[in-house]
Amino acid sequence: MQQTVNKEGVPAPDWEALRARFPVFQKKTYINSCSYGALAIDVETEVQRYLRDRLEEGCDWNYWVERNEAARSSVARLLGATPDEIAVTTSASAGINGIASALDFDQGRHKVVISDYEFPTDAQIWYAQELRGAEVVRVPENDGYIPVESFAAAIDEQTRLVAISQVCFRNGARLDVRAIAKLARERGALVMVDGYQGFGTMPFDVRDADVDFAVGGHVKYLLGTAGIGFLYARRELIESLVPTVTGWFAQRDIFAMDTTRYDPSPTARRFEAGTPPVINIYAATAGLEIVHDVGLEAIAGRIAELTGQIKSSARDAGYTIVTPTDPSRHGAMIALRSHDAPALVAALGERDIVVSDRDSNLRISPHFYNNAQDIDRLFAALADLANLLV
Ligand SMILES: Cc1ncc(COP(=O)(O)O)c(C=O)c1O
Repeated sequence: MQQTVNKEGVPAPDWEALRARFPVFQKKTYINSCSYGALAIDVETEVQRYLRDRLEEGCDWNYWVERNEAARSSVARLLGATPDEIAVTTSASAGINGIASALDFDQGRHKVVISDYEFPTDAQIWYAQELRGAEVVRVPENDGYIPVESFAAAIDEQTRLVAISQVCFRNGARLDVRAIAKLARERGALVMVDGYQGFGTMPFDVRDADVDFAVGGHVKYLLGTAGIGFLYARRELIESLVPTVTGWFAQRDIFAMDTTRYDPSPTARRFEAGTPPVINIYAATAGLEIVHDVGLEAIAGRIAELTGQIKSSARDAGYTIVTPTDPSRHGAMIALRSHDAPALVAALGERDIVVSDRDSNLRISPHFYNNAQDIDRLFAALADLANLLV
């Protein structure tokens, strides 16, 4: 087989060999990574290894600790952070709650600026802080997007935190995180990005984006499983933030077993809580390793080809694309407007095509393991179901 190279002359990954590691494609046209990433045999092997260890060894705390630290380092590499800036959590929500519990909303800074693009858990956690004196300011979508200028109107000297999604779970719109973070910094506010819909699909560097906090999880484009997430906290801030959501794994010395006081770790581990999600750590490290091996530049290029194909197929068929079509304004998901999105998802499911819906949108979310034939198959099926599309 002839090896393809990219424009810098670097050999491209062998996409079909990679795809072969995801058995779901033997039976399904799976284009639903915004909900769940496809499961690789590498991840299955690691989960089996956990079960075998438990069955045969009982428990192996030392290996578990090593895996937990491997997960921490791997996430640090993903985000351009250092391991002591990463908390391994049980969900993205757990990380957001940890940050929320450590913020105060007085001293003239009580506002939390969010947007219409937030995932429910993010919005709900910030609205919950209104019980603690916060005021949530919501930046609306306008004409299918939220430009930086809309944030400029909302962030002011009373803003404690700007909490935004990198990519919207509903329609795939991508915010200009770096520009919004710059605005926030100029006005003295902190910035948190929820990258759950973006991490694993494109390079993201917390220092380059200049954010204070980042949260995400492993079940989607990071190819792991549910029940595990992570939080990045900027090193300079960590010791000034004292979470009141805590637990024994958040203490300076986990095994001090001190029942007389709260002594948080000097690292981002202070945002952890109880026993780590051990089995999920096995899965998450295996999934993330695949992402690192393939490389985020290559993955972003592959996804751009596939989302480009989706957009042009939708345009040719006359369907309504609700995602902003400028490639700098969307992530790995393209959404189409539907009269009845759940019925459309079900009808496609009967044809062994797996996609998902939110609101009135059909969400099509490819990853590097998809190919042009997957998209062709989807659009051939949509042609039969065009009465459900707008
Ligand atoms: C952008 C975003 N944030 C957060 C979550 C949920 O995270 P968790 O369930 O780990 O708290 C999701 C899940 O779909 C998501 O898409």
